Amino acid sequence: MNHEQEPAKIQSMFNHIARRYDFLNHFFSFNIDAHWRCQTVKAVFEKEPEVVLDVAAGTMDLSVAFAKQFPEADIIALDFACEMLKGGLHKLKNHRIFPLNGDGLALPFRENSADILSIAFGIRNLENLSRGLDEFYRVLKPGGTLLILEFTPNRNPLFNLYSGFIMPLIGRIVSQDPDAYHYLHRSVQAFPPVDVLKGRMEDAGFTKVSYRKMTMGIAALHQGEKQKN
Ligand SMILES: C[S@@+](CC[C@H](N)C(=O)[O-])C[C@H]1O[C@@H](n2cnc3c(N)ncnc32)[C@H](O)[C@@H]1O
Repeated sequence: MNHEQEPAKIQSMFNHIARRYDFLNHFFSFNIDAHWRCQTVKAVFEKEPEVVLDVAAGTMDLSVAFAKQFPEADIIALDFACEMLKGGLHKLKNHRIFPLNGDGLALPFRENSADILSIAFGIRNLENLSRGLDEFYRVLKPGGTLLILEFTPNRNPLFNLYSGFIMPLIGRIVSQDPDAYHYLHRSVQAFPPVDVLKGRMEDAGFTKVSYRKMTMGIAALHQGEKQKN
């Protein structure tokens, strides 16, 4: 485990920045993050899920996007940082979204219980990627879909200037956390490239694994299926 990935540290960092998270997210991405979440939901638009599990749901923007697309489904929004979930409570309105404080590496669900499992900008924070993928596979129903939306490691010097210097500087001032947006940059650069992540998903048992790069490859959406019996 990289010491930066210590769960207690990550949890406390997200609890600390929760109040400013949405603002900074939209500000730094010029609101493109909303488009990425929209594309994530569209990737499974033909499905009729009963249960969607949004892991590392944070302030629940993706959970809300799912609830709009699938108004009949139960959307479980799970996160281990309570303050992040609290920060999104005002978005729930009449949606069938159920916030749940829990750990993505030890999901409080029986095997074969979710039709769709999503994780947006959360997987790179997991202490152990393989354990996470195994856990997602366990909880998905056969034929269920895993969706992973995540930043991709990027070598573009302009992008690195933005994410390695400008974002941490503004992030420190606005979130009042000295390191959160430095950590964002480091964790993205340390995350496996798209082909490697695809291979890790296949190693965990997922089939029909594919990915799509978005917005000049800044982010990518991976998807895979748990094999039908
Ligand atoms: C960058 S935020 C993403 C939030 C949201 N999915 C979004 O798209 O804005 C990452 C989230 O992952 C959560 N997280 C990280 N590791 C986790 C774990 N092991 N279990 C549950 N949540 C976790 C953090 O608390 C944080 O809310």
